[in-house]
Amino acid sequence: MHPIYPNVFSPIALGPVQLRNRFYSSPHGMPMSLGGIPTDDYLHYSLERARGGVGLIMLSLTIPERSSGAQPRPNVKAALPAFRRFADSVHAEGTKVFAEPFYQWVATGAWQPLSPPAPIMAPSVSQYSFLDRRAATRAMTKRDIAGMTAALVDAVENLREANIDGIMLHASHGALLEQFLSPYYNRRTDEYGGSLEARMRLLRETLEAVRDAAGPGMAVGVRLNCDELLQGGYGTADAYQILQSIAGGGLIDFADLDIAVEPDQFHIGMPPVFAAKHLYAPYVEAVRAAAGTVPILSVLGRLTSIAEAEGAIASGLCDMAGASRALIAEPELVANAEKGEEARSRTCIACNACLAGFMEGVQACAINPATYRERYWGIGSLTPVLQPRRVVVVGSGPAGLEAARVAALRGHDVTLLEARAQAGGALALWAALPGRETHADAISWWTRELDRLGVDMRLDCAATADMILGEKPDAVLVATGARYSAEGRSNFLDHAIPGHDNPTVFTPEDILLGKAAPSGKVLVLDAEGVHTGVGLAELLARRGCDVELISPSFSPVSARLNDTQDTPFIMERLHAAGVRISLMSYLQRISGRQAVAYNVYTKAERVIDDLGAVVLATGRVGANGLEAQLTGKVAQLFVVGDALAPRVWTTAAFEGHKFARMIGEANAPADVTAAYFAPDDPTYFPAPAAAPA
Ligand SMILES: Cc1cc2nc3c(=O)[nH]c(=O)nc-3n(C[C@H](O)[C@H](O)[C@H](O)COP(=O)(O)O)c2cc1C
Repeated sequence: MHPIYPNVFSPIALGPVQLRNRFYSSPHGMPMSLGGIPTDDYLHYSLERARGGVGLIMLSLTIPERSSGAQPRPNVKAALPAFRRFADSVHAEGTKVFAEPFYQWVATGAWQPLSPPAPIMAPSVSQYSFLDRRAATRAMTKRDIAGMTAALVDAVENLREANIDGIMLHASHGALLEQFLSPYYNRRTDEYGGSLEARMRLLRETLEAVRDAAGPGMAVGVRLNCDELLQGGYGTADAYQILQSIAGGGLIDFADLDIAVEPDQFHIGMPPVFAAKHLYAPYVEAVRAAAGTVPILSVLGRLTSIAEAEGAIASGLCDMAGASRALIAEPELVANAEKGEEARSRTCIACNACLAGFMEGVQACAINPATYRERYWGIGSLTPVLQPRRVVVVGSGPAGLEAARVAALRGHDVTLLEARAQAGGALALWAALPGRETHADAISWWTRELDRLGVDMRLDCAATADMILGEKPDAVLVATGARYSAEGRSNFLDHAIPGHDNPTVFTPEDILLGKAAPSGKVLVLDAEGVHTGVGLAELLARRGCDVELISPSFSPVSARLNDTQDTPFIMERLHAAGVRISLMSYLQRISGRQAVAYNVYTKAERVIDDLGAVVLATGRVGANGLEAQLTGKVAQLFVVGDALAPRVWTTAAFEGHKFARMIGEANAPADVTAAYFAPDDPTYFPAPAAAPA
């Protein structure tokens, strides 16, 4: 028995499948397929989590052939060998693999590659809006329903042949099976609509068909939404009856309980930093007894440690607990806890860079650049160098911290210079914004690791070229970040705002570093729509300022914060703090205690008087003065992260990691220019999943 986590580290049976422990990786869409065939990168991503101790990995797969092309598709016959290699390789690590083959409106595809979209199938004609996609669905005919069931059965047969251990039907997140259960989406008048019994018909029929196709060796279960939280949707009372009916009828071996209809409740489906931890718990609590002895699984929402999983299982809330993002950030979460080395684990900060990346066609974890790149950057790939080099890293934001960590892990002699009294760079400033405090956990982890690895970290040390060269480095990484433009330059208008040099005008850094403490009426001009502007507006309002937030856009938040699901929380917080919002507006000029704003379309001007301060959260400029001073004076010089060019913050740790790997390597680029114009490295191109060597 495990001395600290006896519940998590005890085996459990889900139907015919035995699991070694009670922590699972919940399904998360991964655009890691080639024509529906899972890639090698997907396999190595999963293997890392299997080796990292999870008992069960759930794969998110889309059906039918007409579904979105980015995720693996089990209806593609050519994908079977790759699925089999996938299952066999994960089994070899002691972990089981379940599949969640589903149809859902955000995962639907086109008639043919690059063609206009195929229709979205649904129980009824539903008005649909997701991100910028607005449409109405097709009400499925009985032939459509039969076609969908046949596609699912075909998928299950293929997955059984491929040695996948179980199937989880998706009846949550607005997937098709939930839509049939839902009085909000299902307005049918045939035998599939109307009473709860009729709305349950498709789920029951599908479970029966899937049970048949799965055979006695596979586990079959369902992910069920406990409460749609929709006006006109079903609540926990209906969910209870649904679960009681399918569990009592012997149709399932397990149920995974959560909440969150997409897109309506997307923001609690992958709850961002502002959401309370374990926000699904009361809903699971209300429904779980309906399952009787059938095991209950749940991710609870923002579960980030094995201690939390242990508590949930010990209290009887669930029989197995799991996570997606905690494992995206830390593949060894389970193994580290089992060994009593939890301090070695990164803690997911719920920034949702993983989710936004998925929607934007990028795969990245903001605090773990090796995630999704395990095939070549996985655990064990940072092999010791034969000849350690002297390395100086300048700047301790995520780029510098990660660069120093990677260089030290390879055995180089690393010094990290930081001008401020505190490590973390812009991330530390963001963590000082209300509600984002957990971002500081990432900085604590990095600094703990650097300490363990013996990196010489010098705070309060504003590096000069002479000081750096005095260290006689072989390699220098300049990770000095970016600063907000004091002139108010922005991507709306890359031009200085007249009056920006007025003494009442500040940058976000002035406020967050305590150099200015405005009072009275404050204007925050935000042209970025990321956390800084809205966070500062809230911070100043909570400090008692009368804050007006001005944005040239139609919304005070950018598409990025929509993708990370932060928007609903931010809007609520701004409202609660009393921040006034003026959209489609920009500042014409500032003078004394007055500013002139104008509507960016009509050009109508508005004079704002009695201002205590104007904060320009407009745009950022890379701080890389050291590059020119050091060029030609060290063997390798890499400018990384925002210092190279201010971009989305996942870039920072990624570039720190990437370039630190190149230190002292034969034929490695000497600088970012050489790397930028080098031919593509074939290592990085995906291939279908093959058995690992
Ligand atoms: C990038 C991403 C993609 C996801 N895709 C799916 C999916 O395809 N199917 C599903 O059932 N859940 C999906 N989820 C939801 C997770 O399984 C999980 O319920 C949710 O992230 C909350 O758990 P967490 O706090 O441990 O991340 C996804 C989550 C993320 C972050």
